[in-house]
Amino acid sequence: MNAFRKDFPVLSENKYAYLDSAATAQRPVQVLKAVEDFYRTANANPLRGLYELSIKATDAYEDARARVARFIDASSSEEVIFTKNTTESLNLVAYSYGRAFVKEGDEILIAVSEHHSNIIPWQTLAKEKNAKLVYLYPNEKGEYSLDEVKAKCNSRTRIFAMAQVSNVLGIPKPIKEYAKIAHSVGAVMVVDGAQSTPHMKVSVRDMDADFFAFSGHKLMAPMGIGVLYGKKELLEAMPPFLTGGEMIEYVTEQSATFAEVPHKFEAGTVNAAGAVGLAAAIDYLENVGFDFIEKTEEKLTAYLLDELKKVPHITVYGSDSYKEHVGIVTFNVDDCHPHDVASILDADKVCIRAGHHCAQPLMQFMKVNATNRASLYFYNTEEDVDRFLTSIKNVRKELGYGS
Ligand SMILES: Cc1ncc(COP(=O)(O)O)c(C=O)c1O
Repeated sequence: MNAFRKDFPVLSENKYAYLDSAATAQRPVQVLKAVEDFYRTANANPLRGLYELSIKATDAYEDARARVARFIDASSSEEVIFTKNTTESLNLVAYSYGRAFVKEGDEILIAVSEHHSNIIPWQTLAKEKNAKLVYLYPNEKGEYSLDEVKAKCNSRTRIFAMAQVSNVLGIPKPIKEYAKIAHSVGAVMVVDGAQSTPHMKVSVRDMDADFFAFSGHKLMAPMGIGVLYGKKELLEAMPPFLTGGEMIEYVTEQSATFAEVPHKFEAGTVNAAGAVGLAAAIDYLENVGFDFIEKTEEKLTAYLLDELKKVPHITVYGSDSYKEHVGIVTFNVDDCHPHDVASILDADKVCIRAGHHCAQPLMQFMKVNATNRASLYFYNTEEDVDRFLTSIKNVRKELGYGS
């Protein structure tokens, strides 16, 4: 049992073996308390009032922005925009940057393993602009070769959008190498960090991402707060995304000028409590430490993968190396629909994900309709994995197969 588990109310009585952290993480009491404290002691509309309480709310919100900037190693907090989630962050880039800078005949390069959040905004943009959406395809392990990336990046490529870690295959990508290729042809590199930020140290400057999106809820923050990082000169050149209160400088009956970045992209009352919760989650995460997170996840993933492979009638997808799974193990049980598998596990209070994982083009590429996914985080234990294994060994019998 690791020392951090007691901080998580949902896990504290060991009722559930929670193996669905890639969908959303559990929250520690420290995050819940930070949100409660904000509402108890600093609640007013941030960025609007001139009185002490509103200034407190504004300070808490802007301190959270600075905390995020340090977390992802941005050059300044002006490059950090608060959104609802990864999906909204990627839509912001597609609607604002995409509509301003992508023209007919241009190309947008993405991977077939992307989450729908990193496909549909580009599909929509490509249709609207008569641009072309070009796909990269992985090998069995889930890797995309630099040769294929080089072959598909050309002078027409305006945007290259890729997840740092796939939510199905888990494998981390060499984004820094991809960004070099994107930049060599004048394209911008958009990185979906939804599955990387909870598990590994990220430096947007080192990988040279032009845009980087992530969701707070996958790293223990409240739902409804997300981040878009963008290089300042790009954000400044982009038109606003949503419009209305807070994002303006001066408004007349027929026209408006807009606020400076990042506020230009934060229309309406902001989610200050969410931002404060995100800062608390980042503090918690960094206190646990990425060393501990990586070691714990590697150990548990190795155990889960090794034992799962011994179970007959199981197919595991992606790399053979536990190190490349980032806590994500996607699999199928022969003849059993993933929804049935997840329901049987649910009866044993084992929580896993089943379905297409918002990655239908990848499912089509892998020639499966759906899969199961167990995903681990540092608060999981060997006992969670044992409960999963005991339950999974029972699935085919439950469904009436002899073995
Ligand atoms: C790789 C990846 N990208 C994007 C998303 C979308 O995140 P959200 O639903 O928080 O916007 C997810 C969520 O599972 C994801 O795993």
